[in-house]
Amino acid sequence: MIDGFQFDNGRDLSGYVDGTENPKGKKAAAAAISRGAGAGLDGSSFVAVQQWIHDFQRFEAMSAKDQDNAVGRRRSDNKELSGAPRSVHVKRTAQESFSPEAFILRRSMPWTDGAAGGLNFVAFGKSFDAFEAQLKRMVGAEDGVTDALFKFTRPVSGSYFWCPPIAKGRLDLRALGF
Ligand code: HEM
Repeated sequence: MIDGFQFDNGRDLSGYVDGTENPKGKKAAAAAISRGAGAGLDGSSFVAVQQWIHDFQRFEAMSAKDQDNAVGRRRSDNKELSGAPRSVHVKRTAQESFSPEAFILRRSMPWTDGAAGGLNFVAFGKSFDAFEAQLKRMVGAEDGVTDALFKFTRPVSGSYFWCPPIAKGRLDLRALGF
């Protein structure tokens, strides 16, 4: 198990604000919670978790411009960069740019262990489709363009979880046959 923690008002350990483009309110619920999939599934959520490990040495060796061009936002004021390369993370994962749109609700948190550290990526979805579409683009499976985040970080684990719905104050496990 890896403990996560909040860092500097929701920043990743690279210093970039993480979660800005998360859907909010009703849109967050629509992205994260299954609806119209039938009894036992409606009200549940599909959760993708990945441990990412940052190469801080490599990150520090990059110029400030290259660092901003990996994420696609300016670290100083979180402004989205115009004219950034296609490989920037926020272009690879731009939720409206997918067909169908690929909205997820991210709740990632930094982790550290001695000198090592990175991000515990956590994303809730009404299914795993949006997460998988984004990951496919990040690794370049669609167009050969790899997400520039890989210049300084990489996933070392990947897990899928399912949070069952609640009915009458109890877990509704009908989908599992209970
Ligand atoms: C170490 C790994 C990662 C880091 C440091 C990271 C960091 C960031 C940062 C700083 C942003 C910009 C602010 C924001 O909107 O939150 C962002 C956006 C985003 N990231 Fe990541 N991210 C990581 C991995 C992932 C993964 C694995 C996915 C999905 C497979 C993902 C999906 C997204 C999405 C959907 C957005 C918003 C894009 C938009 O619609 O503008 N990220 N990420």
